[in-house]
Amino acid sequence: MSVPQVELHCHIEGAASPAFVRACATRNGVNLPPEIFTPDGAYSCDDFLHFLSVYETACTAICTPRDYAELVYDYYTHAAHSGLIYGEMFISADHPAAVGISYGDFVDAIADGYGRAHEKTGITARFILTCVRNYGVEQAEAMAQLAHSHPHPLITGFGMGGDENRGMPADFTRAFDMARDAGLGLTVHAGEVCGPKSVSNCLEALKPSRIGHGVRAIENNEVVARLAGEGIVLEVCPGANIALGVYGQYRQSPIRRFLDAGVKLALGSDDPPYFHTDIANEYAQVQRAFSFTDEDMRAISQTGLEAAFCDDLTKVELMSKLSQ
Ligand code: ADE
Ligand code: ZN
Repeated sequence: MSVPQVELHCHIEGAASPAFVRACATRNGVNLPPEIFTPDGAYSCDDFLHFLSVYETACTAICTPRDYAELVYDYYTHAAHSGLIYGEMFISADHPAAVGISYGDFVDAIADGYGRAHEKTGITARFILTCVRNYGVEQAEAMAQLAHSHPHPLITGFGMGGDENRGMPADFTRAFDMARDAGLGLTVHAGEVCGPKSVSNCLEALKPSRIGHGVRAIENNEVVARLAGEGIVLEVCPGANIALGVYGQYRQSPIRRFLDAGVKLALGSDDPPYFHTDIANEYAQVQRAFSFTDEDMRAISQTGLEAAFCDDLTKVELMSKLSQ
């Protein structure tokens, strides 16, 4: 794959392979329930809610700053070797807090892992502080408050993942307003498992510039037109959609239909080992499924950079890498 890749959607703990999680469990003395793995050692993942539950359980093994630093370093050195030039990663303050890591130590660990990967490979990354919808409004607002009180140059976005079926987007308006006031770019998971209304509700209540997934917006022409008209960028993760049963194959992803309708999109691997993929594979599969040229793929990377939550100078430098 020759086109430089840009990734806008990947979750930090979701980037941890089963081998990494098992190694963390061993050194941290955590007993992981064997049923989170299949007999051949992959993550067990039947549907969306089962995935979220396995993910939460696997997270309990990742419990020291060293674990987080290694995870970020491993992810970005490997991805850089496969052609990634810029990546954004969702980080949640909830998981480190649950295992007793302070927010400051967590952020330092991430900055350390990324700093070493950047030095070794030249890759650029930024991080999106992400609340979990099913953890409720108070936790989301506390996370937005952290963004205010502990600003960090690598943390440039605020997002929300978790179970789309829980709560109303409007419940989270204050959290997103606080994050916007802190100067962060905004993205929300919607239209992954729920329908187009989940996307329009999020646009109205939270005013993000990007939507995580958003693919089910394709089921309503008005929502598609709205996405195109407002220039909202979708972070599409087709491998995740296939693994969770939203689509059967890559060519059934609405990627081409969105592009034809003028909707901007970039790619992500979401939780790559859970979904048996990585960002290089997402690029390769999308190119193959839609017979896209290298220029088509470069345009997707360019959209990713335009929508990236990083400063303009960094974007200019990355754009020049893209055209090399
Ligand atoms: N958290 C981690 N991966 C997620 C996904 N694909 N959807 C919602 N929340 C998530
Ligand atoms: Zn996601």
